Amino acid sequence: MEQQLIEYFPLNTLMLINGSFPMPLMITKKLFNTQYEKTTPTIQMKKKIRKFYHKRHFLFKKFDQGIVLDEESWYSVVPEEVASYIAERLHKRINDQKINIKQIIDGFCGSGGLAIQLAHKFNNLLCIDLDPIKLQNLKANSLIYQKTIQTQLNDFLLFECEFDENIILTLCPPWGGLNYHKKEVYDLEKDMTPNLSDILRKAFSISCNIVLQLPKNISISQLITIIQQQSQDLNFKRYSLEIEMIYINNQISQLF
Ligand SMILES: C[S@@+](CC[C@H](N)C(=O)[O-])C[C@H]1O[C@@H](n2cnc3c(N)ncnc32)[C@H](O)[C@@H]1O
Repeated sequence: MEQQLIEYFPLNTLMLINGSFPMPLMITKKLFNTQYEKTTPTIQMKKKIRKFYHKRHFLFKKFDQGIVLDEESWYSVVPEEVASYIAERLHKRINDQKINIKQIIDGFCGSGGLAIQLAHKFNNLLCIDLDPIKLQNLKANSLIYQKTIQTQLNDFLLFECEFDENIILTLCPPWGGLNYHKKEVYDLEKDMTPNLSDILRKAFSISCNIVLQLPKNISISQLITIIQQQSQDLNFKRYSLEIEMIYINNQISQLF
């Protein structure tokens, strides 16, 4: 674990974590294992995304029951097992902290990988996406999992909502699609659209309870700087930051 931390989070970042960050920070690691099924797609797929077909049952266990995905969703959906784990962990945390939840808002819901698992745990879920195709997919996919989910076609940055500590936000913004570079340090401002500052400015105007999905190769110090800048008015002594490194088949895949 330490090796991986140093690989992805440079040493000066770790020192900063220990030194000057104004809220407790915990970094944990969660492992998932899966076997991909290398079969030829039975549905029409562009050549550049055909490799994702191998992962179909990891993305959705009920894939064969009629799951629908557009091109972007093939590489951006949160896999079912990971999504189920995140939803369960969030549910436990909310119970432990006795948060009286008003609503869960999934601000970048896509075709529903995470949202469907959230719907299994929480009643009042609202899913937002600016792409109508994604919302169509989400509605179809959630029915396969016997869930009906409330959706809103909107840009999350324009979504209007009063601040309420009892709202939980789950945010999986796009990382740049197939152009996302895993090898270099990912710039949360330049490589992400919308950029993280804009996303967090909006998010902190709604709630401080935020679950964020980010690439594995971010700079933690950049993340912390952005959080500090965008949450200036909030009293962070009451909050903590947790980063869970998600490993799939022994490779770090993403951060939650
Ligand atoms: C990484 S995908 C989300 C995947 C989703 N969490 C899942 O598990 O299936 C990002 C989504 O954000 C949507 N999106 C991009 N910019 C947005 C914005 N400003 N407001 C709302 N949705 C946006 C895209 O259409 C895309 O569906």
